[in-house]
Amino acid sequence: MVFKVSTVSTSPIDGQKPGTSGLRKKVKVFKQPNYLENFVQSTFNALTAEKVKGATLVVSGDGRYYSKDAVQIIIKMAAANGVRRVWVGKNTLLSTPAVSAVIRERSGADGSKATGGFILTASHNPGGPTEDFGIKYNMENGGPAPESITDKIYENTKTIKEYPIAQDLPNVDISAIGVSSFEGPEGKFDVEVFDSADDYVKLMKSIFDFESIRKLLSSPKFSFCYDAMHGVAGAYAHRIFVEELGAQESALLNCTPKEDFGGGHPDPNLTYAKELVARMGLGKSDTGGEPPEFGAAADGDADRNMILGKRFFVTPSDSVAIIAANAIGAIPYFKSGLKGVARSMPTSAALDVVAKSLNLKFFEVPTGWKFFGNLMDGGMCSVCGEESFGTGSDHIREKDGIWAVLAWMSILAHKNKGNVEGDGKLVTVEDIVRQHWATYGRHYYTRYDYENVDAGKAKELMEHLVKLQSSIPEVNKLVKGIRSDVANVASADEFEYKDPVDGSISKHQGIRYLFEDGSRLVFRLSGTGSEGATIRLYIEQYEKDASKTGRESQEALSPLVDIALKLSKMEEFTGRSTPTVIT
Ligand code: G6P
Ligand code: ZN
Repeated sequence: MVFKVSTVSTSPIDGQKPGTSGLRKKVKVFKQPNYLENFVQSTFNALTAEKVKGATLVVSGDGRYYSKDAVQIIIKMAAANGVRRVWVGKNTLLSTPAVSAVIRERSGADGSKATGGFILTASHNPGGPTEDFGIKYNMENGGPAPESITDKIYENTKTIKEYPIAQDLPNVDISAIGVSSFEGPEGKFDVEVFDSADDYVKLMKSIFDFESIRKLLSSPKFSFCYDAMHGVAGAYAHRIFVEELGAQESALLNCTPKEDFGGGHPDPNLTYAKELVARMGLGKSDTGGEPPEFGAAADGDADRNMILGKRFFVTPSDSVAIIAANAIGAIPYFKSGLKGVARSMPTSAALDVVAKSLNLKFFEVPTGWKFFGNLMDGGMCSVCGEESFGTGSDHIREKDGIWAVLAWMSILAHKNKGNVEGDGKLVTVEDIVRQHWATYGRHYYTRYDYENVDAGKAKELMEHLVKLQSSIPEVNKLVKGIRSDVANVASADEFEYKDPVDGSISKHQGIRYLFEDGSRLVFRLSGTGSEGATIRLYIEQYEKDASKTGRESQEALSPLVDIALKLSKMEEFTGRSTPTVIT
């Protein structure tokens, strides 16, 4: 059939500024007439012509509620804008790391390559008719669009007057693999539905030694549990952990992707990953029986990860440091060395210590994965991570939840080479972490989140903290008045970053109070919420003395917590006596 293109008149809709990771709003906001269409057209208009006309685009996501409608709308608009082909993962499912991998790695039957893609996700935010939907655009390198593009998109949303759409193009059956071909005014247009896991699995197999992981998983001494929290990770977990690596089916928890994530909050942390936490022996009411040796969870779009040992939590900040410290020996992809490592500012300095000891290039960037992407494109960074349960490497330009699990499995397999068979006792996740602390010291670390706080009050709290910074003696007077047993504040500032690759400067990236003993308090406002403001408070204390690295984290940090809450007047500003989530 030959489809027609019609032009629809529209007008700007307020509030379409993309946040840290694209545009995230309630589904009912997205369902307003022209809301999605305005954003998609504003994106097309922000791209250079060759990234639209005749181009190949990926469109998929975590499969959350509204994805199936959104994908059909985007297909019709892509057709009308002269896009040559759209690639869609079966049932619109592609994890965020898989989209990045598909953009970078996949070739069509005729050798075509994608120049970008729309990812339909609100990441770790809940899904369903009354919850969140989201959309973001990733570039040719597989990474999120840089600010220069997202700013342009936003400007376009403020002036948009019309958009073209191929209204009579029939809906494409996204549940069946295959190509649907159409003919439009500008020529051919294809929609190809492909297997969500194939390209990603191929990439993972080129990075890790699957055979050694398979041996570990087959050892009767080892046991494993993976919680996909009903997100898109489920589409990969069965294929990779069960089919490729031989894990038991019973190792998979919540691995059927659901539009509403089973009503849960698909964020892999100790509060929301309740079932896994209970199974690993870390919950208030444990499931009973002996917990598995290794457990992990993912968020809705499978770019985040949480790593657990038996009755043991690995902080994301420790996780990236431990991966960096062991990567060269344990992961074939890194065998010739690491180009450098990087962490986001609020992430603990555990990685810094490893970088120093291994003499690696090191970078501290603002929160947001795009900053790592630039370093990777510049060949300066191989492994990076964030306290917000994101870990990854330069194999793609997004953080990668399943990659992190495979990295940990590789380290476990490497450390247990001689133990998987025979009588040797298994080196556990906890052993690896404690050994790491003994070698490098420990960064006690915790994060307090105050979700859905009044945005005005949150702003006032931040302004109050910035004002305080003008006099360090004054701050120290306050600090000593609260607790006399903590070190002095040495300096305080708002974090600013100059990108070494493109020279761009990012200001106001979080408020820091740096103590003489290396402790830190960091305050910042979340850039990923969809309602009100979320204040994040990050608390960190370094302990070099190996005999003191085994304390209970919340107990070790309680003096600093006390100071942070009083210094910021948290309760006074927010009316909250306790945080919503502690991680
Ligand atoms: C997303 C980004 C991460 C970032 C996180 C922070 O997941 O991809 O790079 O660390 O958001 O979110 P926040 O809510 O703290 O701004
Ligand atoms: Zn995510």
